[in-house]
Amino acid sequence: MSVQHISLAQPFSDQKPGTSGLRKSSSQFATPDYLESFIEATLRTIPGVAGGTLVVGGDGRYGNSQAIGVICRMAAAHGLARVITTTGGILSTPAASHLIRSHGAIAGIILSASHNPGGPDGDFGVKVNGANGGPAPESITDAIYAETTRLDGYRIDMDAPPPNLSVCGEQQLGELVVQVIDGVEDYVALMQRLFDFDQIGALLRSDFPIAFDAMHAVTGPYASRLLEGLLGAPAGTVRNGIPLEDFGGGHPDPNLTYAHELASLLLDGDHYSFGAACDGDGDRNMIVGRSCFVNPSDSLAVLTANARLAPGYADGLAGVARSMPTSAATDVVAQQLGIPCYETPTGWKFFGNLLDAGRITLCGEESFGTGSNHIREKDGLWAVLFWLQILAVRKCSVAEIMAEHWNRFGRHYYSRHDYEAIPSEAAHGLYNRLKEMQPSLVGQAFAGRIIATADDFAYTDPVDGSLTTGQGLRLLLDDGSRVVLRLSGTGTQGATLRVYLESYVPASGDLHQDPQTALASLITAIDQLAEIRSRTGMGQPTVIT
Ligand code: G1P
Ligand code: ZN
Repeated sequence: MSVQHISLAQPFSDQKPGTSGLRKSSSQFATPDYLESFIEATLRTIPGVAGGTLVVGGDGRYGNSQAIGVICRMAAAHGLARVITTTGGILSTPAASHLIRSHGAIAGIILSASHNPGGPDGDFGVKVNGANGGPAPESITDAIYAETTRLDGYRIDMDAPPPNLSVCGEQQLGELVVQVIDGVEDYVALMQRLFDFDQIGALLRSDFPIAFDAMHAVTGPYASRLLEGLLGAPAGTVRNGIPLEDFGGGHPDPNLTYAHELASLLLDGDHYSFGAACDGDGDRNMIVGRSCFVNPSDSLAVLTANARLAPGYADGLAGVARSMPTSAATDVVAQQLGIPCYETPTGWKFFGNLLDAGRITLCGEESFGTGSNHIREKDGLWAVLFWLQILAVRKCSVAEIMAEHWNRFGRHYYSRHDYEAIPSEAAHGLYNRLKEMQPSLVGQAFAGRIIATADDFAYTDPVDGSLTTGQGLRLLLDDGSRVVLRLSGTGTQGATLRVYLESYVPASGDLHQDPQTALASLITAIDQLAEIRSRTGMGQPTVIT
């Protein structure tokens, strides 16, 4: 082994990880020493590197395999004992979380920019997960960032050949063992422990055609093995199932805009009974029934209400959690079940503390993320299987499940309007103006209601007492409706403004309106108050969910 210290002319100044790790354009990552610097800072920061095991893999986007090679050569130079990676370097975020936990790894490095487009002109990303399998806490990402700002160089084994990712087996890189495993196997076994594959298989072999869209991203191999292999769904059930470096030119984000082909099969056609899609790295999910889109906030509420139908949750739930912008549909279910419901800031790491402490079993976000204590990330295919499990037991349609749910708990009309890639100054100007106005808004009329509270969401972690501030501007109205504004922490072009709209109708009210109609007065009122259209210069949102 020939470890070399490569000197940097100066440290990179722009390597601050966001809520989902370091996410930048592929061309930025192609800058000499850029990836290496961030990995060096990471390996200097995370505890247990000497003699430890690291899990490494990614969503297959452009740069994936090459980055795995760099990380292995740097791991060898830093004295790690073992790197566990996968054939083709393909590893979904949830499967990585599981591998970290089940192999006692010190950490995981996941190569993904999640749902952002990939390819030479797309984005790349590096996400660091801790020993619990979840996104590294802010204390670690802050320390990594501090390290990047004073880095003078990095250590790498210059002689080591790139690991052969085409076959399973062990390779020696100096003192380091690179273990290449099948990235799908362990994950599939975990799903078999949580769900009844005989019941789901019987449903899929009956008259219940389903369609799954892997969006040419990481879940293709997982979904093919699960749905078509083990559960007996016909060949062709998994669409776009081969991972491609540029996701076929698509935007692997499972929502009504970017997964419109799948959505249209279910919403406009009448062949399929159930449809689902996952994002680039496999942690997000979209669920659609025939003529019935399930919004993610409702999905979490349905899983909470029906959890006992899955073998893995037959004993009930310790509690549930949702991110602040997610609708309160789950809160109502939790109240009826008599279990606690926590409201956290956006981002999965806040759920991690609650899961580790055993306070919650299920959690989710409005942004198509749902998960449980089986790992420490959201999990797209897990949510799909959970829905299929419920449908297999209840033997009804998705639309019937939703109608019954609203009849019992009432309905939270909900929508998110995203204004993407707006000039950063315009976005911050709009946001800061509303924030300054907030104190004067309390008691004012808004969309025919009165503003009862106007604040910037802050969260005190009930497990470790840490305080997180500045998490989104809320206008809470006197009838329980609300509007929330946030600036995205994951975009790479300009700024993205997210406007979250929510209004509750009890079971006795009109439960079958179009959400945009039900929310129309809130939409108009927030546009007027925050001057969204004039300040962004956009006549309508880029994405409406
Ligand atoms: C978005 C979602 C958020 C999710 C994050 C990572 O973040 O809104 O719920 O946790 O992606 O998948 P945002 O761009 O809003 O900061
Ligand atoms: Zn993702």
